[in-house]
Amino acid sequence: MARHNSLIFPARHAGFVAWSGGVPVGAATYTVDGGDCELTFIDSGRQHGGIGTLLLQAVEDAARRARCTRLWLVTTNDNLTALSLYQRRGFRLRALHPGAVVEASQLKPKIPEAGDFGIPLRDEIDLDKDL
Ligand SMILES: CC(C)(COP(=O)(O)OP(=O)(O)OC[C@H]1O[C@@H](n2cnc3c(N)ncnc32)[C@H](O)[C@@H]1OP(=O)(O)O)[C@@H](O)C(=O)NCCC(=O)NCCS
Repeated sequence: MARHNSLIFPARHAGFVAWSGGVPVGAATYTVDGGDCELTFIDSGRQHGGIGTLLLQAVEDAARRARCTRLWLVTTNDNLTALSLYQRRGFRLRALHPGAVVEASQLKPKIPEAGDFGIPLRDEIDLDKDL
């Protein structure tokens, strides 16, 4: 994945897998850097079933166990579903990086031009939550 003009590899990060009926249905990964924990990936597989909330809570709990005081993440301007989920669970908007997704396409050429809801995929948004 590309964010903040650098590539990261969530498959190499610590994380959690959500299972349903013996089948993996979602996953979330994170990294710890001092007192900061970054949620580097979250995908619930099927939406609005509560899996995203459970995965987010699992990462938050892991961050607290690692004595982090801040959980942060980067999303994109089109991801209204994620922006809703995070803000309703205590995250604040911290920074806007206009055009960062367009710049990231130099690093990761497969980024589509149109994102969710047909919104042009352009900007990165940082969110965080004090723990
Ligand atoms: C963003 C994402 C992880 C959210 O996961 P999710 O499983 O849909 O999240 P949840 O179901 O826990 O919560 C979403 C909403 O569904 C509601 N919900 C939870 N359980 C529900 C149920 N059984 N029935 C109906 N709605 C339910 C929640 O209340 C929540 O709504 P709210 O925020 O208005 O309270 C998911 O949409 C996803 O994987 N998207 C694609 C990848 C992605 O964009 N990742 C984020 C990158 S930053």
